[in-house]
Amino acid sequence: MSTVTVEERDDRVVVTLKRPDARNAVNMEMIGDLHDVCALLEASPKPMLLTGSDGVFAAGADIAELAARGREEALQGFNSRLFDRVSRLPQPTVAAVDGYALGGGAELAFACDIRIASQTAVFGNPEPGLGIIAAAGACWRLAGLVGASVAKQVLLGGIRLDAERAHQLGLVADVVPAVELPGAAHKLLDRMARSSAAALRLTKLVVDSPGGHPHVDDLAQAVLFETTDKRDRMARFLDGGRAR
Ligand code: COA
Repeated sequence: MSTVTVEERDDRVVVTLKRPDARNAVNMEMIGDLHDVCALLEASPKPMLLTGSDGVFAAGADIAELAARGREEALQGFNSRLFDRVSRLPQPTVAAVDGYALGGGAELAFACDIRIASQTAVFGNPEPGLGIIAAAGACWRLAGLVGASVAKQVLLGGIRLDAERAHQLGLVADVVPAVELPGAAHKLLDRMARSSAAALRLTKLVVDSPGGHPHVDDLAQAVLFETTDKRDRMARFLDGGRAR
């Protein structure tokens, strides 16, 4: 893969966006690489940590490619289909955002389950300034994350959310100095690694399932209640050991 690096560990996969010359803008090559990452994580589910590099998360979809696209390409939804696939990965995903997460870069971060930011993180969707809409999730996913009022400030007003505001809004879980970002993100993944992988997977499915509540919650719980892992974890807790 030429636009991302992938580090596979026992309990997580660390994916780093690497197109330094274009501020990690998401081009077709990166879309292909990230689809390969998705295929890996679907075949062998693990939590994913997604990061940028060189002080930038991603500066958007690649504008040189966007400029050449027409209606047919828009209808193929290159970015939206990838980000949808990312959002449906079986295990939790964490975006560690340092610096700019703009346009498609912001939408990629919004597609992850949890975001954690450095003090220099900036989220924004400047697409209307380029004559287009944020068509890869921001128009609906951002409203789901921070409410329609703030989403419209970003999408219509061109207002950028700095790390502090993003934290106040709950868009990011924490804000730390850039040097501490990898450590803070890994700490979050460490906590996940101590949880039951089956419980995390089913929790994510339940949280993301539209309109199926409460039946889908009961179904997921019914599956988990039958596992040895659940019995062992509860027995450990009741014996005085900590469950997590
Ligand atoms: N698509 C394609 N190339 C991009 C890009 C994008 N989204 N964002 C940055 N680049 C390229 C620039 O064209 C430049 O290339 P060059 O060195 O060949 O001229 C290089 O990355 C560095 O960009 P530059 O603007 O000089 O960096 P900067 O640090 O001064 O500014 C940004 C960083 C992110 C503020 C600025 O690049 C920017 O505004 N990018 C576009 C953001 C955007 O509108 N995204 C929405 C796209 S839908």
